[in-house]
Formats: sequence, structure tokens, C-alpha cells
Amino acid sequence: MSTSTPHLASSGAIEIDSDFHQQDSGLSSDDSSLYLSSTQSLASSIHQHIFENGRRYHTYYGPDKNLLPTDEAEQDRLDLHNEIILRLRDGRLCDAPIATNPHRILDIGTGTGIWAIDMADKYPSAEVLGIDISPIQPSWVPPNCRFEMDDVELEWTHQAGTFDLIHARNIAPSISNWPKVMAEMYRCTKPGGWVELSEFGAELFSDDGTVKPDSPLNVAVQLTKKAMAAIDRPFPVAGTLKKRLEDAGFVDVHERIYRQPIGPWPKDPVLKHTGAMALVMLETGIEAYSLAAWTRILKMDPEDSKGKIKASLKAALDKRVHSYNHFYVAYGRRPDEQD
Ligand SMILES: C[S@@+](CC[C@H](N)C(=O)[O-])C[C@H]1O[C@@H](n2cnc3c(N)ncnc32)[C@H](O)[C@@H]1O
Repeated sequence: MSTSTPHLASSGAIEIDSDFHQQDSGLSSDDSSLYLSSTQSLASSIHQHIFENGRRYHTYYGPDKNLLPTDEAEQDRLDLHNEIILRLRDGRLCDAPIATNPHRILDIGTGTGIWAIDMADKYPSAEVLGIDISPIQPSWVPPNCRFEMDDVELEWTHQAGTFDLIHARNIAPSISNWPKVMAEMYRCTKPGGWVELSEFGAELFSDDGTVKPDSPLNVAVQLTKKAMAAIDRPFPVAGTLKKRLEDAGFVDVHERIYRQPIGPWPKDPVLKHTGAMALVMLETGIEAYSLAAWTRILKMDPEDSKGKIKASLKAALDKRVHSYNHFYVAYGRRPDEQD
């Protein structure tokens, strides 16, 4: 059954496109159930780094602060992920109901700064600041957008009540002390202003039981989940982000759970497109989230890890599997005098 908002987890099973399964994949008979793979190239720049197992990592604030690489492949992946998220949210940059003319917006862990740049374009009234521990942001940006290098787990230098919106997306695997970060977010949000948190979860779902526990993709996801839990930086589940906001004192807290298909198997055109894009993203994304986590935390052998990553990528391309994961979004308002 099809619904008008199939990307939200609350709207029943995702309908599978049966026509799609009859199309010729163009692959050999052995691989006929696999999706064709493809690559994308996006502009990026070179910064200071170390190489490890073929990926480049930024280490200025400590080697394990960000376990994801920051090389060009990762920057391309972040930009593609931004596009996927935009499409899942019907083009909305955030779900928090911010005013039409915000003055100050902060994006923590801004990555390539793509969200901050889009917000600066959308809200010319606002000064948008993106901060990150890696200098991977472009220098040609809108005049109302700028970037700074900083670690959000250190004391914030911003004055209390500065921002109309503070945004944090996909930084959970880097943050050890959420209560401290949330307290700074609360302090620096204007009374009546909003904080929005959004994160992908580390769990594969299927409505028809086609995701098997022993699938190499599922094994990879579970290993990364185990590694991050071992260093007390777990991936969120339903309710995690909402609770973080409530515990910090925010009110009007809401959570939405979006579904991100893996592969173009859904019938719904938006889900089909984002599912196809997710496959492209996973070409480097599985490795990005796995390699350092497995070798540094779980002490796995790099070659064994690469073999598992390759197998998981092949499993992701299996057309018979109708998997998706969750993208959690929660937002809350700092109370003002009227509350
Ligand atoms: C997965 S990327 C997400 C980037 C961006 N938020 C997005 O959604 O496109 C995580 C980013 O958070 C940054 N980061 C990690 N820990 C941080 C910290 N303690 N302070 C500031 N930035 C941090 C990383 O350098 C990386 O660029």
C-alpha cells in the first residue's frame, strides 16, 4: 500500500517496485541480482592529514577524535549524503520551525559546510557560522557564511543567548560527552530559539524479512555499532535525540524518523532515487564508517577488514534485499519568558 509520506517511519511498509525486479540489470547471470555500481566526483580541496590503510585522516585535535576520513572521497560522500537527506525531507534544510528572518545560525561539525552554505543562501538575514575540527570547507562561500576550526567538546566561546538555531548533523560517532555539548547548546541558544539534532542510526530494517542477521552488510553495520559502543560513542536509536534535548531543558521537543532505503527497490519515486543515491554513497561510506573503527578499536586486521567491507558492499547491491535504515531528526526550543 502506498502512502503520501512513505519516507516517514510511521507510514507503514515501503511498497516494493515489482516492475523494477523484471528489468534486465545488464550483469552476468551470477550477478543478475546485483545493482550496477557507479561513482560520482565532486570538487574538494587538500588539507593536512595522515594516511592510514589508504584513507586520509585529520588529526589536529587528536587521532581518534573523528574516526572518519576527511579525504576527497569522504568530502564527496558528505555532499552526496546532504543531497540524499534533502530529498528525504522534501527539500527542507531543517524541520525546526525557525522564524523567517533568523539572525544567527550555528552548524556544529559542519563537514564540507554544505548545509551552512545552503542556509546562508536561504536566509540572507542570517549570519551562518560552521565549525569543525577539520578545515575541509570551501573558501568561496556566500558573504553571510563563515567557518571556524574548533572542537565543540571544549568550552564554547560564544556568548549566552546568541543563536536562533543550532544544528548538529551526523556527528554522534565523534562526541564523547553529549550532556556537556547539549549544555553549551542550551546556553548559546536565544530564548525562543531552536536546536536541531539529526543522525543516522546503525541498524538495517526490512518490512519483508529480506535483511538477514548474517548478511555481510548487516555484519559490517553491527561491527561498527559494537566499536562505537565500546568507546561510549553509540549510534542513536529512536528516542535518543529527543531525550538529549529534553534532558538539556529544551521544550516543544519533537522527533521524526525518516527511512533511507538502500537501493532503488521502492516504488515511491523519492525513495527510489534516494535508494539509488545511497548505493553510490556506500561505495566509500561503508569503509569510512568501518575501517578506523574496526582496526583501531576492535583491533581487526586491516586486510581482513577490507575483505569484509568489500563483501558488505556486494551485499548492499543485492536487488533481492529490501533494506533501509533510519535517519532520526529531533528539535526543541529553548524556553523564553512566556513559558
Ligand atoms: C560525518 S561528518 C558530518 C558533516 C556535516 N554535519 C554533514 O552532515 O554533512 C562529521 C563532522 O563532524 C566533525 N567533528 C567531529 N567531532 C567534532 C568536534 N568535536 N568538534 C567539531 N567538529 C567535529 C568532523 O570533522 C566531520 O567533519
